[in-house]
Amino acid sequence: MRLAGKAALITGGGSGIGLATALAFLREGARVMISDVSEDRGREAVAAAAAMGHELRFVRGDVSREADAMHMVDEAIRAFGRIDVLFNNAGILIEKPVHELSEEEWDRILGINLKGVFLVSKHAVPHMFRQGGGAIVNTGSVNSIVGDVGDAAYCASKGGVALLTKAMALDYAARGIRVNAVCPGWVETRMFQQEASTRGVSVDEYRRYAASHHPIGRVGRPEDIANAVVFLASEDSSYMTGSLLVVDGGFTAG
Ligand SMILES: NC(=O)c1ccc[n+]([C@@H]2O[C@H](COP(=O)([O-])OP(=O)(O)OC[C@H]3O[C@@H](n4cnc5c(N)ncnc54)[C@H](O)[C@@H]3O)[C@@H](O)[C@H]2O)c1
Repeated sequence: MRLAGKAALITGGGSGIGLATALAFLREGARVMISDVSEDRGREAVAAAAAMGHELRFVRGDVSREADAMHMVDEAIRAFGRIDVLFNNAGILIEKPVHELSEEEWDRILGINLKGVFLVSKHAVPHMFRQGGGAIVNTGSVNSIVGDVGDAAYCASKGGVALLTKAMALDYAARGIRVNAVCPGWVETRMFQQEASTRGVSVDEYRRYAASHHPIGRVGRPEDIANAVVFLASEDSSYMTGSLLVVDGGFTAG
């Protein structure tokens, strides 16, 4: 088991990539706390883990609010006494070009996708200092690397995550904290269903369309991303920091 004895905090762990990663971490021997803004999703995730024979802990919280970020870190420390792995994964998508975006929508998407990474890291890092190290994995996107039509604020937030990851990697390398990002292609989650509905097409139609954009010929599964996050969280990646690990079925290869 690659994460035996490790304690992990995963934001946005109530569904999609965060939930798949929580289950993968549990299977690899970690103790895991998820946070999510949705109480219902958090509860469902705990029940899903219990059905597989695992204890998953949940704390409700919004990563864009500093008091909540501090609270989720405190709860993880209270439960486990340490945080070896922080997976900053919570994110939202609002698909609009700049001229259609309200200031409130811009602030919301940047607040969750980018400021949330800063806030939760800010409160977790001092515990990692005390422990002598840790691993932080941020969720970027193919939009950390390439732009996309109608996704201005999302691209800005994920581009920000890429360089925040590298800056934090430099700040903390000497303190034993590795900071990397996973950059998924399109993955079939709630966010993917939301994109289908924004475009007014069925999920089946959108899946076919999305698959045609990925040279491997299919969209990603949450587990495809979880596998990469386990790698970045574990000692298997001990010589990696400041890296963007692209897991996109070839989306950005061309
Ligand atoms: N699905 C994709 O195609 C795709 C591609 C690239 C990157 N990503 C990124 O992966 C991450 C996870 O997305 P997903 O596809 O699993 O979507 P998802 O909607 O299934 O999961 C996101 C989770 O984050 C939670 N969340 C939303 N706002 C929050 C907040 N303010 N505080 C705490 N939790 C909050 C949601 O309740 C939800 O449970 C996001 O950062 C997203 O940008 C997704």
